[in-house]
Amino acid sequence: MWLLKVFSLACLTAVCAGQDDSHAVTRTIQENELVTTKPQPDPPTPILQRLTKWSDVFETEELQFRCEVNGTEWTYSWYKNNEKLHEEQSLLTISSVDHTHEGQYSCKTHLKSKGVESESSNTVDVKVYTKPKPTVTRSSDYAMMYPKEPIDFTCKVDVSSEWEYVWYHNGTEISDSSSEKHTIHTIGHPDSGKYHCKAKRGSFYTEASGTINLQVSDPPTPILRRLTKWLDVFKNEELQFGCEVNGAEWTYSWYKNKEKLHEDQSLLTISSVDHTHEGQYSCKAHLKSRVDSEFSNTDDVKVYEIPVPSVRPLTQWLDIFPTEGVQLSCRMQGSSGWKYTWYKNAEKVQVGKTVKIENDGSRLTISSSSTSDRGKYSCFGKLEDRSVISSFSSNLTLYVYDTIPKATIVQNPKASLMHTEDWVSLSCHVNVSSGWDYMWFKDESSLVSSGNTHNISSVVVSDSGSYKCKVKRGNVFKPTQSEAIAIKIEERPQAEIILQTKWLDAFATDSLALKCEVKDENSWNFTWFMENDKLEESTSERHIVTPNNDPEQHPYTCQGVRQGRPFYSKMSAPLKTKNLLLKRRILLSISGLLFFGIIAIFLGCIALKFFRKPAAENELPDENDLFLSMTKTKDSPDGPCPLVEFITEASLKASPKAVEENGEICSETTSLPIILEENQAVMTDTNNATENGCGLVSFKA
Ligand SMILES: *[C@@H]1O[C@H](CO)[C@@H](O)[C@H](O)[C@H]1NC(C)=O
Ligand SMILES: *[C@@H]1O[C@H](CO)[C@@H](O)[C@H](O)[C@H]1NC(C)=O
Ligand SMILES: *[C@@H]1O[C@H](CO)[C@@H](O)[C@H](O)[C@H]1NC(C)=O
Ligand SMILES: *[C@@H]1O[C@H](CO)[C@@H](O)[C@H](O)[C@H]1NC(C)=O
Ligand SMILES: *[C@@H]1O[C@H](CO)[C@@H](O)[C@H](O)[C@H]1NC(C)=O
Ligand SMILES: *[C@@H]1O[C@H](CO)[C@@H](O)[C@H](O)[C@H]1NC(C)=O
Repeated sequence: MWLLKVFSLACLTAVCAGQDDSHAVTRTIQENELVTTKPQPDPPTPILQRLTKWSDVFETEELQFRCEVNGTEWTYSWYKNNEKLHEEQSLLTISSVDHTHEGQYSCKTHLKSKGVESESSNTVDVKVYTKPKPTVTRSSDYAMMYPKEPIDFTCKVDVSSEWEYVWYHNGTEISDSSSEKHTIHTIGHPDSGKYHCKAKRGSFYTEASGTINLQVSDPPTPILRRLTKWLDVFKNEELQFGCEVNGAEWTYSWYKNKEKLHEDQSLLTISSVDHTHEGQYSCKAHLKSRVDSEFSNTDDVKVYEIPVPSVRPLTQWLDIFPTEGVQLSCRMQGSSGWKYTWYKNAEKVQVGKTVKIENDGSRLTISSSSTSDRGKYSCFGKLEDRSVISSFSSNLTLYVYDTIPKATIVQNPKASLMHTEDWVSLSCHVNVSSGWDYMWFKDESSLVSSGNTHNISSVVVSDSGSYKCKVKRGNVFKPTQSEAIAIKIEERPQAEIILQTKWLDAFATDSLALKCEVKDENSWNFTWFMENDKLEESTSERHIVTPNNDPEQHPYTCQGVRQGRPFYSKMSAPLKTKNLLLKRRILLSISGLLFFGIIAIFLGCIALKFFRKPAAENELPDENDLFLSMTKTKDSPDGPCPLVEFITEASLKASPKAVEENGEICSETTSLPIILEENQAVMTDTNNATENGCGLVSFKA
């Protein structure tokens, strides 16, 4: 009650004291000392005001107080923890606080002139905090960020509030960002780098936060790999691709000709391809709800039909003989890496002593065949290490004959005995298969002939011998030989002309009788040649040359001909008929004269007492007799063939017509009486014997 009275009084005096401050202060002191004394107005109590906004101050921050009181004449004193400070202004400013500035601040006012001091103001407690360091965080903690992704950075200061923020990128302030959160909606490559922040209030800046790194890079391009090793894929084969990108968290998508497939694993497997699977394959990698990669490289897939192998012979023949070899090949056109398997008559070929199949199966060799090797051969191919099997090739039929071939030798013309100048053709035949090589042998020594005929256009005696041929083909086949054919060659018989007109006949006849003779055991017909012209009408052993049928007296040759071998003889030596009769007559006349001369001498020698008639008429012809006989023939009714005409060329030329007219008759009537007489006996003897009577027979006919 009492105290309340004092305060109200003090309050009242304080209001009044405004008119007279100096009095008031002293009065107040007096009033306090003497409570009951008349109240003096007290100096007003100042109010301490902090001018800086925040109650929590940080080292280096500025701190400002004002000591507020009405009136201007006041001086001030400042206290920290009741200790007086050296400051007398109404403002107390600490430009950069530190921990020594902590404490309870108050102030008082003084009216110097009156020596009055006010009460202590209210106190303000100052605590100094160390400078804060903000922390910076990012919304996504991916080590790697991809373009177009969003990101937030947050700057946090633990103490106080009402901060403003400053953001830095690569150490440079970001001008348009002052909030706690720095947001980049779509990042790009330039956004990569170091980020940090500071908080600020007024001119106060916190420490810099730690830096946080943003790494921006393009998403990786996946690599498409074909996991099946081969590039050429055959129908029904497996095909596998892998899509590769670093990191496990990726998913994948697959494309064929840029069209999406239903597959999201890193492997794409097609277990059995066909033509619908052909195309360009590629893949993409995806990071869930973040980023899609570009297309990978592409792989062009082509699906091939499995080729069919072809089987063909490497040796020439598919019909072969026992022991002959054969080689067959199996090939896939324009493709490699195949292994082949051989079948015979739908059963796998068994390799053996004579049957061999090479390192990749492409060649089947039968070195020495037998009939069991007959059959239809085919093959198929399989790709090494792959499940690709071709279908069977076509069949190749191999035939092995039961026996080795038989060579047959044929002689044409067929004759075991031949004569010089004959031709002979030997031919060798194998009636099966083809491609034979022929070899010819005579008496076991080989002949130069090749081919299946051995011809001799004109045989000689030394060609006699035993002929045979051998055939072979290739190198593996043992030659087979024919039977031998023996041919004997004899010298062709010689024809010879014998002049049958006797010496003494030279006077009795004007014709010449020629006989052709071949001295062997065969019977012959004959051909006569005048000069070189064949005399068609004359085929008998004898040929009569008369002044009529050959007035020019040509040389004559003859040849034996027959139906069997030898068909003809050698040509005779030519017989010259030119003036033969005349020459003979002259010779005979001279020899007759000589003879009679000798006889006369002889007779003269043995005297004339013994006279004897000459023994043979024909030994005594003289010139007169000859002409006598000539006249006789002239007198013959059949027509004259005067010997004079025959022996004198002049008269010949004088009447060639007559000769021609009478030629035939003349030759028919060469039968002169003398000749008739001479051969009368012979004629009767040989009526049936044609051998000697050749001339006669023809004459008779
Ligand atoms: C100063 O005077 C005004 C009006 O007279 C008053 O409102 C204010 O509170 C006074 N100030 C102090 C510190 O006494
Ligand atoms: C910041 O630094 C990073 C890395 O050094 C750089 O890639 C990026 O381009 C820089 N950005 C700017 C805007 O300077
Ligand atoms: C080949 O011959 C075998 C056995 O005779 C037969 O089964 C197969 O069908 C033949 N193949 C062809 C393509 O004719
Ligand atoms: C080949 O000749 C032999 C022997 O003369 C005979 O047995 C065989 O049938 C002939 N073969 C042919 C194909 O003519
Ligand atoms: C051998 O003679 C025959 C028959 O005259 C003939 O057909 C063949 O061509 C001749 N061969 C040769 C090699 O002269
Ligand atoms: C001679 O010729 C005749 C008639 O042409 C014939 O009948 C006869 O067989 C031939 N004689 C000989 C040995 O050829």
